[in-house]
Amino acid sequence: MAERSNKTRPASVLTPALLRAVRQRFRLDWHGIHGAPHWARVRANGLAIAARSGARVDVIELFAFLHDSCRHSDGGDYQHGPRAVDFAHALRGDAFGIDKVGFELLAEACSTHSRGGMDGELTVRACWDADRLDLWRVRITPDPRRLATAEARSPEVFNAAKKRAYLWVARRW
Ligand SMILES: [Fe+2]
Repeated sequence: MAERSNKTRPASVLTPALLRAVRQRFRLDWHGIHGAPHWARVRANGLAIAARSGARVDVIELFAFLHDSCRHSDGGDYQHGPRAVDFAHALRGDAFGIDKVGFELLAEACSTHSRGGMDGELTVRACWDADRLDLWRVRITPDPRRLATAEARSPEVFNAAKKRAYLWVARRW
C-alpha cells in the first residue's frame, strides 16, 4: 500500500461564501464564455504557471473567480475590471482573506487584465496569461508573443490550456 504523504495542501482562498457572492453578482450566462467554466480553466492555467514560476497561488485563484464576475456583457465592457476590484474590496474580510500586498496584486491584475499588458510583477503577469491562455474557448489561438511569462509559453502549459478549452468547446457546440 502506498504511504500517505504528510504534506497537506493549504486551504484554498476560494471560500463557499465567496463563490455564493460571485454567483449572486454575476449577470451573464453562468456557463457561458465569461462564466464559471472559464474561471475554472483560468484557475487551472494560473496554477500551472505558478507551479513553474512561484507566482502567488492565492492571488491567482481570486483573480480567476473575480476578474470577469462584474461583466455587464460578453462584448467590450471596458469597465468590468475596475468593477471587479470594487467587488473584491467589498468582499475582502468577510468572503475571503488576503494580506495587503496580495490584495494590491489582485486589484492590479483585475483592473488591467483587458489592456494587453506585458510588464508588471510576476503574479500579475501570471494572472493575465492564465486568462489569455483560455482564448481557445472563443477559437482564438493565444499569440505566444503576447504572453507575459515564459511559463505560459512553455509547451506543457500552453498545450494543456488548449486541451482544457477545446474539451469545453466540444461539449458546448
Ligand atoms: Fe477572462
